[in-house]
Amino acid sequence: MSKTFRIAPSILSANFARLGEEVDNVLAAGADIVHFDVMDNHYVPNLTIGPLVCEALKKHGVTAPIDVHLMVKPVDRIIPDFAKAGATYITFHPEASEHVDRTIALIRECGCKPGLVFNPATPLDVLEYTLDKLDMVLLMSVNPGFGGQKFIPYVLDKARTVRQMIDARGLDVSLEIDGGVGPGNILEVAKAGVDTFVAGSAVFGAAKASDPHHYDTVIAALRSELAKA
Ligand code: DX5
Ligand code: ZN
Repeated sequence: MSKTFRIAPSILSANFARLGEEVDNVLAAGADIVHFDVMDNHYVPNLTIGPLVCEALKKHGVTAPIDVHLMVKPVDRIIPDFAKAGATYITFHPEASEHVDRTIALIRECGCKPGLVFNPATPLDVLEYTLDKLDMVLLMSVNPGFGGQKFIPYVLDKARTVRQMIDARGLDVSLEIDGGVGPGNILEVAKAGVDTFVAGSAVFGAAKASDPHHYDTVIAALRSELAKA
């Protein structure tokens, strides 16, 4: 049986001056999900985009799932805004919320799919109590804040652990990884049990202004590696 893998380009590395077109092009090239990195210059040392940009993408006509990765603290205040703006998934870092269970419930009440994000060195202990309430577990394979960093290999062990937890409980929870993923390592990440792959610089770094189909090649390269899993 072939597994379902999803590719989620991170728009952090897109050309923000023409974001709608960039998103259209990666989706036309075969990407499945739009990974939307929200940074607040507080929880992480960088500042990016918020609900207005999510809403603008929806109004532009994006129908693919939007995977909102909140790197903000506090978390709860901004969740209803992202729900109204059209987010599909909303994931947050447990250490950024005072009340993790409440935040998960809030995301669900707002009509979105909740997920928890774990930094490379953050233990997985809260999953013991929360996994069955989640649609997504996102493992950071870099420290959050910037695109273009190097993949941290020990996160593969963490991925195997989470995959075992999901399967042992018979749950339908996506396991996503974020940071330093590209054609050179996506296969070993898939073999560790990951099904959803964020790739920012690997995808948008392939941009060539002269070629309107510039993302086809890199998405095809990711897919052909995944086909070996
Ligand atoms: C980092 C972000 C990532 C980032 C990944 O904090 O969460 O989504 O865009 O970028 P790459 O794929 O370049 O490591
Ligand atoms: Zn991210």
